[in-house]
Amino acid sequence: MRHTTSILIASLALGAMINGCTSPTGTAPGDRGSKVSPVVAAVADAPAPEVRIRHANGAVATDSKPASEAGVEILKAGGNAVDAAIATALTLSVTRPYSCGLGGGGFMLIFVEETGESRALDFRETCPTRVGPEFYANLPPSASGYDPSLYGGRAVAIPGQLPGMIAAHDAFGTLPLEVIVAPAVRAARAGFAVDANYLSAVEKVRSLRKSHPDLRPTSRWIWDRLCQRGVIEVGDIIRQPELAEYLERFGREGIAAWSGPEGIAALLTGVDRAFDGVLRPRDIQDYKVVWREPLVAKDVFEDYDALLMPPPSSGGIAIAQVLAMMEHRLPSAGDPLPGTAAYSHLMVESMRHAFADRARHLADADFVDVPVDRLLDREKIEAAADRIQFNEVLATNSCGVIEGGAADVLKDEGTSHFSVIDNQGMTVACTQTINGTFGSLLAVPEIGVILNNEMNDFTTIPGASNLFGLKQSDRNLPEPGKRPLSSMSPTILLRDGQTAVTAGASGGPRIITGTLQVLLEVIHGGKSGRAAVDAPRLHHQWKPEILRLEAGLAVLQPELEAVGHDVETTGGVGVVQAIVVHDDGLEPASDPRKGGASAGW
Ligand code: GLY
Repeated sequence: MRHTTSILIASLALGAMINGCTSPTGTAPGDRGSKVSPVVAAVADAPAPEVRIRHANGAVATDSKPASEAGVEILKAGGNAVDAAIATALTLSVTRPYSCGLGGGGFMLIFVEETGESRALDFRETCPTRVGPEFYANLPPSASGYDPSLYGGRAVAIPGQLPGMIAAHDAFGTLPLEVIVAPAVRAARAGFAVDANYLSAVEKVRSLRKSHPDLRPTSRWIWDRLCQRGVIEVGDIIRQPELAEYLERFGREGIAAWSGPEGIAALLTGVDRAFDGVLRPRDIQDYKVVWREPLVAKDVFEDYDALLMPPPSSGGIAIAQVLAMMEHRLPSAGDPLPGTAAYSHLMVESMRHAFADRARHLADADFVDVPVDRLLDREKIEAAADRIQFNEVLATNSCGVIEGGAADVLKDEGTSHFSVIDNQGMTVACTQTINGTFGSLLAVPEIGVILNNEMNDFTTIPGASNLFGLKQSDRNLPEPGKRPLSSMSPTILLRDGQTAVTAGASGGPRIITGTLQVLLEVIHGGKSGRAAVDAPRLHHQWKPEILRLEAGLAVLQPELEAVGHDVETTGGVGVVQAIVVHDDGLEPASDPRKGGASAGW
């Protein structure tokens, strides 16, 4: 669906932008075609040789090679995409223990191509019963001045990871849980090799322990065991026998091993309380996952429909808004392609609208009224897009698709996204998190589980920014049982009722902007999954008013500054894992920004 606009393109700056257009390269996703054997061949016309990968029977894209291989192992054993997703998720908790794990939570979007059914599983962490809206405002600072919603027991929200895995398995699983946990158990027991990204997490812990000596007892187990007291190199093997044993038990006993009378609730809450936490065994026993209806955005960009995560994800709404704004305004800018200044400006202004809405209106819709329908109203989105000027930036207070709401009220941290497609087209997009690097820095040593610091995703102090510099409204204040607003954005784009692309990311608010840009690189830029994920990206989250460019886009800085953007260069904008469906097979693409590697068969 194309929409025309009467806005005139008038500025010299824009002229320069449009002249920067390039022609598309690579191939767009096609209808599902014949299944073929994996093929690896060079793409002749790519600027740098690109390895061309297609898989006939299934594909998994994660930020950790053993986890991608775990998923494929389960697919080969006859499991479906959900079985493979559970194996992948659990293996990631072993190999990326600073990003996700049993002490965290997440979102899983599932599309069953055979029936057209789609489901959204919310296993996000929730606020403990003893924490209310004023909790953090009334806390004295720690001795070294760290934020108590970030580290130690008071940062820990009630984990939902294992209840989530069980819910997904009960609803869609086909293989026994004992079989599904096997690759994760193996990775934990035999160990995995440390890579460069792992070392960056170790450095983060080293620096925190230096700047905040009162976090040394809190982080002791993580520092001693997972960081090897800082004496660690690429290729070193990390073994987690306690976690291996616990995962095996989970495979045998299911949810009882977590929250049943013989589960570990007391153990978990004991550790938490020893470090000023407030978790109670009942918090863990009473935790409930929520099955939600995915947001469906029809014809969101040309002939693509989007399946998106509803609140408490903010990403679903933001991605739908930006895709629709881009579709509406790209023609009036001469259909510029990704990598040009005109395209980038349009993208940034659309992001600013979406992040303004995020800050003002979004929170857990089970607790506050979130105007989802109005935020996704196509006319309102197009009206907001029409306010975008090509020769200047919108005033901060003019941003947002809908009016009203209190506005003044946030690099890759502890999150991991993966995507799976099986041989029936069943698609899983799953993002899981413990929020910051190694979450709260607290571990339960007996079972090797790291506890999240998801409480910092709430508006802990009205008016203050969170870990990611995001401003959020009072609607997102903590309340018992409430889920903190999230940027996690597992997304599936359909064409003609079949999966065309699935993507998602880690990286705080850069999850949203990273995912969006990869999707558009494929569906508008015509790129392969590999080229789309590799392409340089930008980020703007409305507040602070700073446009961040990866180095590969730094060449655009003068043109973007000329129209009024305050520009800085930055490290990675999200870590995106995607799978693109081509006529001749599945193309998984893991993001090199975190050293990921995909697998398939
Ligand atoms: N913890 C990151 C997010 O949920 O957005």
